[in-house]
Amino acid sequence: MPPTRSEGPEARHLAGSASDAGASPTAAGTDGDLESLLHASRVRAVQRSNELAVLSREHHVALKLALRLQRATNVDAETVRQATLDFWREEGREHFRLEEELLLPAFVRHAGADDADVVRVLVEHVDIRRRIGDLETGAPVDSAALHALGERLRDHVRHEERTLFGRIEAALNPEELGAVGAALQVAGEAHRPPRA
Ligand SMILES: [Fe+2]
Repeated sequence: MPPTRSEGPEARHLAGSASDAGASPTAAGTDGDLESLLHASRVRAVQRSNELAVLSREHHVALKLALRLQRATNVDAETVRQATLDFWREEGREHFRLEEELLLPAFVRHAGADDADVVRVLVEHVDIRRRIGDLETGAPVDSAALHALGERLRDHVRHEERTLFGRIEAALNPEELGAVGAALQVAGEAHRPPRA
């Protein structure tokens, strides 16, 4: 039986609000601005399997944060840094862990651990963790560093949504995909972010 399908993150994005990533009208523009920015990000409106939908929903929140990071100024840099750390502690860190512990091992059974998309995701996870770690030091925050993190996060989400997740859905058989989805659901129920 083929995996069931649900709307992808872009198709669903109007249901969200600018507050999803701690964004405010001042920092992230109006909802209309946000909508056009999200469209401009070109996250493909794929029909994501229900099994991976929880991760795609978090990608949508991460994408909003990435846009806010890219628009950070020296005036709001401290506020954006705090919003980034809040996102990381409440959702991002756990999201990375689940991808590394559940999703990627299931995929490398088919693709091999040296698959270029797997390597890219892991390298980017390390790089994003390093950049978040820099924000946690309490040193004065540089808006250029926020912009770089925003671009990195945006490109990372795009790659996972446009390339990696589709490959995973194609490679795993329904039983394997179902097992990953069930494990993600259990993990999600054990970890409920305050903003969810
Ligand atoms: Fe991800």
